[in-house]
Parts: sequence; C-alpha cells; structure tokens
Amino acid sequence: MISKELQKAREFEAHYGPFIPDDQRPAFHVTPTIGWMNDPNGFSFYKGEYHLFYQYHPYSNEWGPMHWGHVKSKDLIRWERLPAALAPDQEYDQNGCFSGSAVELPDGRQLLVYTGVRQIREENGILRDRQTQCVAVGDGLNYEKYELNPVISAKDLPAGGSVCDFRDPKIWKEGDTYYLVAGNRTPDGSGAILLYESPDGFAWRYAGVLAACHNQYGRMWECPDFFPLDGKYVLLTSPQEMTAIGLEFHAGNGTLCLIGELDQARKHLLRDNVQAIDYGLDFYAPQTLQTPDGRRVMIAWMQNWETSKCQALGIRFFGEMTLPRELSIRDGRLIQTPVRELERYRSYQILYKNVLVSRMTTLQNVRGRTLDMTITLRPVSETSTYRWFKLNVAGDGEHMTTVRFKPDCNTLRIDRTRCGFPHDIVNVRDFMVRPRRGELKLRVILDRHSMELFVNDGEQAATTMIYTDPSADAISFEADGSVLMDVEKYDLVCEGGAQ
Ligand code: FRU
Repeated sequence: MISKELQKAREFEAHYGPFIPDDQRPAFHVTPTIGWMNDPNGFSFYKGEYHLFYQYHPYSNEWGPMHWGHVKSKDLIRWERLPAALAPDQEYDQNGCFSGSAVELPDGRQLLVYTGVRQIREENGILRDRQTQCVAVGDGLNYEKYELNPVISAKDLPAGGSVCDFRDPKIWKEGDTYYLVAGNRTPDGSGAILLYESPDGFAWRYAGVLAACHNQYGRMWECPDFFPLDGKYVLLTSPQEMTAIGLEFHAGNGTLCLIGELDQARKHLLRDNVQAIDYGLDFYAPQTLQTPDGRRVMIAWMQNWETSKCQALGIRFFGEMTLPRELSIRDGRLIQTPVRELERYRSYQILYKNVLVSRMTTLQNVRGRTLDMTITLRPVSETSTYRWFKLNVAGDGEHMTTVRFKPDCNTLRIDRTRCGFPHDIVNVRDFMVRPRRGELKLRVILDRHSMELFVNDGEQAATTMIYTDPSADAISFEADGSVLMDVEKYDLVCEGGAQ
C-alpha cells in the first residue's frame, strides 16, 4: 500500500524533476530527482543491480521531513531514477525517515532499516526527537513498513543511552545472524556505536558497545559502518562537533576511520589507527557495500552541513554523492580509488612525459570539466628543489580552483576561493601527504561542479564542490622553482547518463 504522503512525493518528483536541464547536473554523480539530498542510504547490491537510496526532501532545496529517494545502477556509474521509496507517514516516523541501510532477505525481498523520528514536547515545553530503528520490506521498487515497528527503541538502549540521538542503522549478515550498528549519545555527551543482533532482521537484541568516542573525536557519532577489510576491521563514522587536530581533522562535521582488530568475545573494536576519511571540503556520512566480486565500495554525500545553506541560485536541486570508491588497507591506512568501472568511460587519451614546469604552463588539449587526469611530479634532479607546484582547474581568467603542493612541508592545499561562489564559506583546506622518493601522484576527477582528488594511488582523498560555470574549463600548471611532470588525461564521456 502506497501511503498518501509517498504518493504525493512521487507525483511531485515525477512532475517537476524533468524540468531540471541535464546540463545543470553532473555526468556521473548521483543527484536528487528534485529538491534536497543528504546522506547515502541503503547502498546495496540487490537482484543483479546496485541500489542507492538517499536522504531526500523533494519539496525544497532545504533539509525538511526526510524521505528516501532512490536510484539504481548496473555499474555504479550510470544511474537510473526510481520513485521515492519511503515517506514519513507513520506515527513513529512522522518527523522523518532518517538514514539507514539495506540487506536481502532469504526469501528474495529487500529489507530496509532506517531511523524513525517522532518529535515529542517534553515537560519543559521543548520539542525533542524520539529516534527509533524501523524496517520496511520490498521488491526494489515498493516497500511496506513493518506492522510491529519500531523494531529497536528506548527499551533496547544501554543504561544512560540517549533516546533523542539514536540513529543511522547499518545492517549486514554474517552466517545466519543479522547485525547492525547505530550511533547513540552516551551520558558523557559524546557518541558511541552500539551493536545489535537478530536471527531474522526483525527481532533485535542489544549486543554491546562496538566503540565509544569519550569526547575525543567530536561528540555524537553519526552514520556508522563496520566491515572486515584486508585482514583488519574498519569502522567508519561521521562525528559532529569536531575540533581541529593538526591537519588531520578539521572542525565541525568530520569523518573518522578507525582500523583495528575485533575483540570477538566483547564485540569491541581494538583500534590501531585513527584517521580522517577524506581531507577535502565536502564529504560526509559515507556508507559501503560489498560487490559480487568481493570489493568494498564506499559512497558519501559530497557536501558538508556547515555550508549547505549557501547554494547557487536558480537550480532546483541541491546535493550530490561522491563517486563510488574502492577501499583497501595499505600500511595500516585506508586507501580509496574510484571504482574501476569508471575507466570504461574514459576517452581521448592525452599523454605528456617529463614536462618541465617552472612558470605558468598550459598544455595543448588539457582542459575540460568532466575528466580523469593523473599528474606525477618529480624533482628535476636528486639535489634540486622547488618551493611549490600548483595545478589550476576550472579556470577562465577570472576564476580558478587550485591544488598546491609544498614539498618542504609535504602539504597539499585545496583552494576554491576564486571559484566564483558568492558566499563567504570555508574555501581552503590543507593536509599532509607522503611523497615517495620525492614523487607525488595526483589523480583529479572533475565532473562539472566537483573535484575529487586522489593522492598517491588513493593514499588520501580530498573532495570539493566548485561552483564555477562549466564554461570555465582551462587547466594550467605553475611552479616556483622547477619540477618535472607527467600528465595522463582522459575525457569522461557518459552519453545520456546525467543524474
Ligand atoms: C547525517 C544525519 C544523520 C541523520 C540524517 C538526517 O548527515 O544527521 O545522522 O540520519 O542526517 O537527514
């Protein structure tokens, strides 16, 4: 049964979505059908296709009562739009269907698990959320909410766990048992990731605290994801209210990757390494799936809460997802590379070897706003140095976005100050990189309004929206001193694949 709230959302998006011109959308990155999008939800492989749902408010470009939007894909690059999957239409989710995940049931149906939000006026008159975990079952198109929802509520919390901040279940199956992790606020005001288990995906039992923040990395931990990877266990989460730590973690809403071993008896993560997931300006709430060939693939919201109220005028949608990225672990650190399927969309290869960059340089046929380009930098000789190297993209004389490398302190800087955006938002981010024998590799993926940067074959990723008109497509290179550079550049061509 499709509720009237869901029917209304579906009619609205079917009516207004087609009015958004294709050239306002990126070629490869998922955008909402219409209106607002935040976190990826229910990222999963189901009946031979990848499904992606997203936090969705179709009626405006602002966050509002959350629905789940829906797209699917055969190759993680070209996406097909589907009608909205969930709307806030029950008492327990009347103020929103918050983030969650998906898994296939033994009978072939797909189970969605999400946070139902209901606001309650407390004795002091303040409206506060009651967040509970709920499920819905469906066929990849239509979903029915379970009559016994919510399936995890206040009574299933550990002592002192907050009933207001309890959200974002990520489900998986191991053997015959289903597990989920969810974020919760603990009595010290910070966050913890709680673990639950179930024989069938409907009846859940609290199983312990997988990891806790103890006010060390931000406060409330949102959107957890937990999985084994290359012999280790990985917990991804997105903390709120971070304070900056060196160049590793920036202030505000950040992202955190904890890598370690699992204490099987206590079901607790023993961490060896803690790092940021992405070092750019626009990246939050990542979620992963496992592909049929065993790859762990992550996608995230390509935005940040701090600046999401500043929007380009006249565009009838807001929000994009990152490209899906393959994850692995190298030297104890998280490695991310764009899914290999992207390479099928490369065309018009341009190669340059050993270009000497010592002042502003442009190269024939190296320009564009939908491209995949790898630059390898190396010193001219073993004894030579240079003060900085700059890559400028999305340029037109007035505008540009810059990636600057300083070899003396091994820092990269992303700077979109001159991208043409009329809001005074955070535009610059610095982070540390690790050149090998003086060599640094930068892979840049541009898709109209975004730049995703992968350093040294994915050792670090940095993601940034750039609000420059797509006609600004000049690319230039600059150095203070001299440096040698190889360039390998492809256009990315995706006929009719705009999302
Ligand atoms: C993270 C988040 C989630 C929540 C959702 C609401 O960006 O705050 O914790 O489920 O957004 O839209």
